Amino acid sequence: MAEKDIDLVLEIETEAYDRPWVREHFDREFENPIAYMYTVKGTFEGRETLAGYIVFWVVYGEAHILNITIKDGFRRQGLGLYLMLHVLDMMKANRVDDVFLEVRKSNRAALELYRKLNFKESYERKKYYGDEDAIVMRLVFNEYI
Ligand SMILES: CC(C)(COP(=O)(O)OP(=O)(O)OC[C@H]1O[C@@H](n2cnc3c(N)ncnc32)[C@H](O)[C@@H]1OP(=O)(O)O)[C@@H](O)C(=O)NCCC(=O)NCCS
Repeated sequence: MAEKDIDLVLEIETEAYDRPWVREHFDREFENPIAYMYTVKGTFEGRETLAGYIVFWVVYGEAHILNITIKDGFRRQGLGLYLMLHVLDMMKANRVDDVFLEVRKSNRAALELYRKLNFKESYERKKYYGDEDAIVMRLVFNEYI
């Protein structure tokens, strides 16, 4: 992800969430030495366009995925899986042992995506989103296929 992508990223983010990240959240992560941000492109009417992104942290062999979003209209085409596989491969190559993330209990699409990648449900954080509990999921790399 580059600074020039931010306007499109914010559009996708605002469309996707009730409480979207705002520009300052992304700006903070650009400055954060442990943060990594990637985008994925899709094709719409013959033209390549930014279709999604991922933000994660890596600290001492542990990764935390903070945000993965695919633009509505590009979903269910394998882009989320592609992006996750890409960053998981990078993490593995960089000796990350465990990957954590939080997901809303009701977010079936995300839960199914993470289960497909062999993330396991670890525990719940009550009212993490204010109105809803989060499920903390963990991937241990020696279990990753
Ligand atoms: C979750 C999200 C990133 C998935 O991205 P995607 O590109 O649509 O997912 P993919 O097409 O790569 O799907 C991979 C697998 O995930 C699961 N999956 C994805 N969307 C699903 C849905 N709506 N219902 C059930 N399973 C779903 C399926 O197992 C799917 O494999 P399949 O298509 O062979 O059945 C996308 O739905 C999204 O951006 N949602 C809004 C933002 C969000 O909730 N982010 C996650 C926050 S924790």
